[in-house]
Amino acid sequence: MASEQSPLLPNQSRDDNAPPAGKASKRTSRIRELALFIWALLATAAVIILAVVAQHHQQTGKPHHGNPKRNLVFMVSDGMGPASLSLTRSFRQHVEGLPIDDTLSLDRHFWGTSRTRSSNSLVTDSAAGATAFSCGKKSYNGAISVTPDYEPCGTVLEAAKRAGYMTGLTVTTDITDATPACFASHVLYRSMEDEIALQEVGDGVLGRTVDLMLGGGRCHFLPNSTEGSCRADNLDVAKLAQDKYNWTYTDDRAGFDALDGGNKAQLPLMGLFASGNFPFEIDRRTRDDIYPSLSEMASTALRALELATKDSDQGFFLMIEGSRIDHAAHINDPAAHVREVIEYDKAFKAVLDFIERSDTETVLVATSDHETGGLATALQEPGHSPVYNWYPQALADASASCELLAYKLLRHISSHPTESDKKLKTWINDNLIIPGLGIKDATDEELTLLADYPDASIEILAAMISLRAYVGWSTHGHTAVDVNIYSSGGHRPESIRGNVENTDVGRFLSEYLSVDVDAITKELRKKMDLGSDGFGVAQAADEFEHYHHQPSAVGTY
Ligand SMILES: *[C@@H]1O[C@H](CO)[C@@H](O)[C@H](O)[C@H]1NC(C)=O
Ligand SMILES: *[C@@H]1O[C@H](CO)[C@@H](O)[C@H](O)[C@H]1NC(C)=O
Ligand SMILES: [Zn+2]
Repeated sequence: MASEQSPLLPNQSRDDNAPPAGKASKRTSRIRELALFIWALLATAAVIILAVVAQHHQQTGKPHHGNPKRNLVFMVSDGMGPASLSLTRSFRQHVEGLPIDDTLSLDRHFWGTSRTRSSNSLVTDSAAGATAFSCGKKSYNGAISVTPDYEPCGTVLEAAKRAGYMTGLTVTTDITDATPACFASHVLYRSMEDEIALQEVGDGVLGRTVDLMLGGGRCHFLPNSTEGSCRADNLDVAKLAQDKYNWTYTDDRAGFDALDGGNKAQLPLMGLFASGNFPFEIDRRTRDDIYPSLSEMASTALRALELATKDSDQGFFLMIEGSRIDHAAHINDPAAHVREVIEYDKAFKAVLDFIERSDTETVLVATSDHETGGLATALQEPGHSPVYNWYPQALADASASCELLAYKLLRHISSHPTESDKKLKTWINDNLIIPGLGIKDATDEELTLLADYPDASIEILAAMISLRAYVGWSTHGHTAVDVNIYSSGGHRPESIRGNVENTDVGRFLSEYLSVDVDAITKELRKKMDLGSDGFGVAQAADEFEHYHHQPSAVGTY
């Protein structure tokens, strides 16, 4: 027993071997023990107190009384399912020669999973998905922050604005598209983008609720008499925003650069850098002089909102969306998809870095509204045995999206209407397939398909690269698969650990900010008439294909 105890009590064994001690020395040794014991107790208490103080300081930031100041960053990876992470992780390891255990920033912050069904379908769309986040309520596919009874529901962004927070939206698609729209507008159907634009700048019953908008979709803000407008009316929403609601407005890269990473942003600020969607990241890289990246916009938005709330008791709420992860999956283009996810991961990392150096408590929660494409990182060719592998090099070889290549094909055909089939096929191979898709073994059958069906070229090109990479897809639409939730962590998002409903994520957002969405709902229902009789029109459009990115000979490229 003694030998077992001795490692625990090393002093005792030394004492055992010490010469016999007198009474006095026994007393001094007991006093010494007592002193040591008290010292140890005090030291432990001091360490605990210091740790608590440090944690408290870290969590509450500067103000030590009243409501602690907080920021919330909510990221949405539209259409990104779990297979997208596996695809992107392996792609990056392959391309950069990284070890098997190299992971994405997202992987290191995995938090849980979200169930995504809407009120009327097992497979949601982005509108119902974002309504679950913004209002914390299930609704029907197509709903922009209205409930299944066609009544508006208050959003976390609106409630945050009302409570004194600053608010922002940052996306790579139209700022009037479903996900951003759900935070700052209420319409019966997602295609009502003319109305969404008006509400977003402040021309709705709540007045202005957004302080910063960075993204695309400029065409919804220009009058139909202007070139580059996609409005049905002749309202100049960009002008209205500036004249009536004091927005600072910029529409180009120079204007973005002048923001100096957010240091020189004057809020409210609206930056619309594309007529519609931004180009896919795989194409944007060569048009960096025109379009900022998602991570650049995210960093700029964070800095602008940080400065704007510097002297405030309240922080900010910022929604950042990797919007086109979804679009690449709709097209079934794995080369474009993987670059969208990499850029989203980079934006996620930029937010983590912000949190690291901010002295205001900030939580980041990131999730997807749904999976798109039924992506699988393996593919069995009909009539063949399964292959236990997939080939990232096929994606690495591609230097352009199928969207851009299809656009180039249509443009070429419209400017060479009398070209022979043989010449067209050669042109396709030499100008699109080899340099763009990085495919050197295109078959005559594939080239013939492209020449004969140019309107379907986007899907044909996507199938060509997917087949060579052994990447599979089950649909050009969405799926019901559970999606991942990520977080910067801490104890506050504990309520959305594990497998939760998408509405739980939405409720967490307003609970974290301690804001009252129900009060906004009441106000909206009193002041707003959405005219559900007009919903027949919306219902007729229920099959509206929100993947409206079919290339045409006139595009933004
Ligand atoms: C433009 O909008 C006005 C109404 O604001 C409408 O009368 C007109 O028909 C529209 N023009 C086009 C070309 O859509
Ligand atoms: C716009 O700015 C002007 C001058 O700073 C101010 O008087 C006015 O109240 C502002 N309007 C809105 C809608 O904020
Ligand atoms: Zn979609």
